[in-house]
Amino acid sequence: MTPLTEAPPTAPPLPASQLAASRQGLADVTAALAGAVDTALAARRPTGPIPAGRPEDVLKAAADALGAQELPTEGLGTRAALELLTTVLVEYGIDLSHPRAAAHLQPPALAVAVAADTLAGVTNASLDTYDSGPSAIAVERWLIGVLTRLARFGERADGVLTPGGSLSNLLALLLARDAAAHRRGIDARRHGIAALPGPVVFCSELAHFSTHRACAALGLGEAAVRPLPVDAHRRMRPDALRQALGSLGPEHTPVAVVATAGTTDYGSVDPLPEIAEIAAEHGVWTHVDAAYGFGALFSDRLADRLTGLELADSVTLDLHKIGWQPAACGVLLVSDTTAFTALDRHVAYLNPADDADAGYDGLLGRSLQTTRRPDAVKAAATLLAHGREGLGRMVDACHALARHAERRVRAEPALELVAPAELTTVVFRYRTADPAAADEINGALRRRLLETGTALVGRTEDATAGPGSPQRVCLKLTLLNPTATTTDIDGLLDTVIEAGRTCERLAEEGAA
Ligand SMILES: Cc1ncc(COP(=O)(O)O)c(C=O)c1O
Repeated sequence: MTPLTEAPPTAPPLPASQLAASRQGLADVTAALAGAVDTALAARRPTGPIPAGRPEDVLKAAADALGAQELPTEGLGTRAALELLTTVLVEYGIDLSHPRAAAHLQPPALAVAVAADTLAGVTNASLDTYDSGPSAIAVERWLIGVLTRLARFGERADGVLTPGGSLSNLLALLLARDAAAHRRGIDARRHGIAALPGPVVFCSELAHFSTHRACAALGLGEAAVRPLPVDAHRRMRPDALRQALGSLGPEHTPVAVVATAGTTDYGSVDPLPEIAEIAAEHGVWTHVDAAYGFGALFSDRLADRLTGLELADSVTLDLHKIGWQPAACGVLLVSDTTAFTALDRHVAYLNPADDADAGYDGLLGRSLQTTRRPDAVKAAATLLAHGREGLGRMVDACHALARHAERRVRAEPALELVAPAELTTVVFRYRTADPAAADEINGALRRRLLETGTALVGRTEDATAGPGSPQRVCLKLTLLNPTATTTDIDGLLDTVIEAGRTCERLAEEGAA
């Protein structure tokens, strides 16, 4: 046997104060962070929500500020590392609290949520097993209970936190797929779905693309998706669903009907009661993608738009959209907890059956993840701090801003309304002197706003414009900052018009 020549270490390599869950450790780190954030915010560019410059220049400047891509031999120390990253993030990043930040379903995060998210990190608990963090399990269960009641689901309802709407939709379709296979006598989990005849998933033509991706990932194939037409209000047409379901033969397996409550661009809500009724007549799973729209339930004024949600088998919702959480805070709700049986699993090193029988079980059987961050903590802190009415006022404020933007677009000769405000988005177009140049100029003006750093507006395409139309490209305001004012919205639209005029002039000069 080789004798031990190394002397045993006399002291640990890391003082206990470097751990977050030590009193001085957290105090030192948060003081350093608060100081760095304060300094960086005070020096923040005044021009707009995104740094000016071409993407390659902005990214290069950020990379230069970070320094050589080398692991330092000796660390910089906590304070210096936090200061460096804070400067990089604030100087070269986006400022969602800026009133001209209106591109995506990406709200400014609430202070209480960010603080609680740090708290979740301090505990570093995980949701998969009881002995990875009982309190985190309790907080997630509390949150799921609150959300299932808000959705007006019954006592058998359940749910799980996910890394976002795309993953909630994937999980929902996995549960629906396995339920459909089970009805055909196929154990999909064990044998796959090769024997499942012609799987079909219905959704509207405006459903989020994550439904298509989920079908690909689940082995159903994107071709399984049957997009159904929408009506003039951009809502799935129930008559089209009834006809499509009725025309399926025994060579097909209807897996799910995916309704959308809050389409990404327009905020339109499919007719949930009719869809659920038709799906139920055919014994098909109803999933509602309410990633964007669920937050309407916080508002007395808007809640009834989601009537019929309670009839769904599963619901996707994202509190990092309407909910003002730092990403990610996705949730999947199911109307009946037994739906999770498809994910149930006992693993020797995590949750053996005898431990589980004795009550030492976690939430491994609700998710495809093993280690899972306690994202429920930030959402629970937010709901407790602001309550339904506090959140409802924020929703109403954003809705009112969108309505104001709609009125201003209608009244403005340089702009053209494409779709009115349903929730918190407005879709419109800059009106070009030459209609044939509309797409080119609208695309260019948005890039100009990005390059000058003056505003963040969204872009989409109007599917109803027909293929080959030069008027498909639209601009979109996604208004999720409840501290913005109608004057801010007017200023934002003025900035858009100004950029449009500049782009038209530059195009003319280029052509001359
Ligand atoms: C209706 C809808 N579903 C799903 C998603 C995907 O959500 P996430 O980006 O959290 O994956 C979005 C994103 O905008 C959405 O609008």
